[in-house]
Amino acid sequence: PEFETILLERTGRVAVLTLNRPKALNALNSQVLLDVSAALDLLENDESVGAVVLTGSERAFAAGADIKEMQSKSYMDMFLVDHFGGWDRVAAFRKPIIAAVAGYALGGGCELAMMCDLLIAADNAKFGQPEIKLGIIPGMGGSQRLTKAVGKAKAMDLILTGRNMDAEEAERAGLVSRIVPAADLLTVALETAQTIASMSLPSVMIAKESVNRAFETTLGEGLRFERRVFHSLFATEDQKEGMAAFVEKRAADFHNR
Ligand code: HXC
Repeated sequence: PEFETILLERTGRVAVLTLNRPKALNALNSQVLLDVSAALDLLENDESVGAVVLTGSERAFAAGADIKEMQSKSYMDMFLVDHFGGWDRVAAFRKPIIAAVAGYALGGGCELAMMCDLLIAADNAKFGQPEIKLGIIPGMGGSQRLTKAVGKAKAMDLILTGRNMDAEEAERAGLVSRIVPAADLLTVALETAQTIASMSLPSVMIAKESVNRAFETTLGEGLRFERRVFHSLFATEDQKEGMAAFVEKRAADFHNR
């Protein structure tokens, strides 16, 4: 399908979703949300998709929520439509989604990247929550996800001053999984997504759910959850195949069942 603000491409079992509003540095307006949500609905229901890469341009992953669209809104305008609530769709996506970030990932752009499972940054990436300079605060999860990712000290520093951090600082702080040269960003993100997509999809989905559970619950509950879903994987054909392949010294041939 054709979308107004994003491009959707497929290579093998990997789908690449590219934010595509270059003139606005991929600012996230309501149309982007509609397009991303519709694309994720398609990809979630498509069994031939094993992983997704979400990216922008070399200049900007996304420079934030669209300020021009928000500028004149009232409290009731924001409240009644639950402005930004729809972006929860990304965090609720059940398959792995890799953010491949080059250039600016600011405000809602940083928050969107943090909703993804793995964040691969180009060496020119810049992360920040500059909302405070606009007289607002992060509204797509930044005060929560950034704090969980980098801790209180750095989260307060970034959110209260609105300063950006570069890729090196973001990696040191634990926000970023890997840094790669900008020219290699998509190649590395695609390779990573292909590796994940070659695993058994049910085990990958359950692994994602289990790691995310660590942010939602106590250690005891999390460990009980992990053990229960771990046991459940012994109901899959892929567990039998994966272990047989190891014993027989051959590559596993998973069927995502
Ligand atoms: C709307 C934006 C935009 C944004 C950039 N543009 N960011 N439009 N919303 N968030 C537009 C500019 O208006 C300009 O359009 C074009 O993109 C190019 O941007 P420039 O500013 O000319 O580029 P440059 O000088 O290179 O500066 C890049 C930049 C700067 C440092 C990223 O654009 C910037 O500071 N942007 C805003 C960053 C920000 O505050 N983000 C947080 C938004 S609030 P024209 O038509 O003028 O050429 C947010 C809240 C989320 O995200 C949480 C919910 C509340």
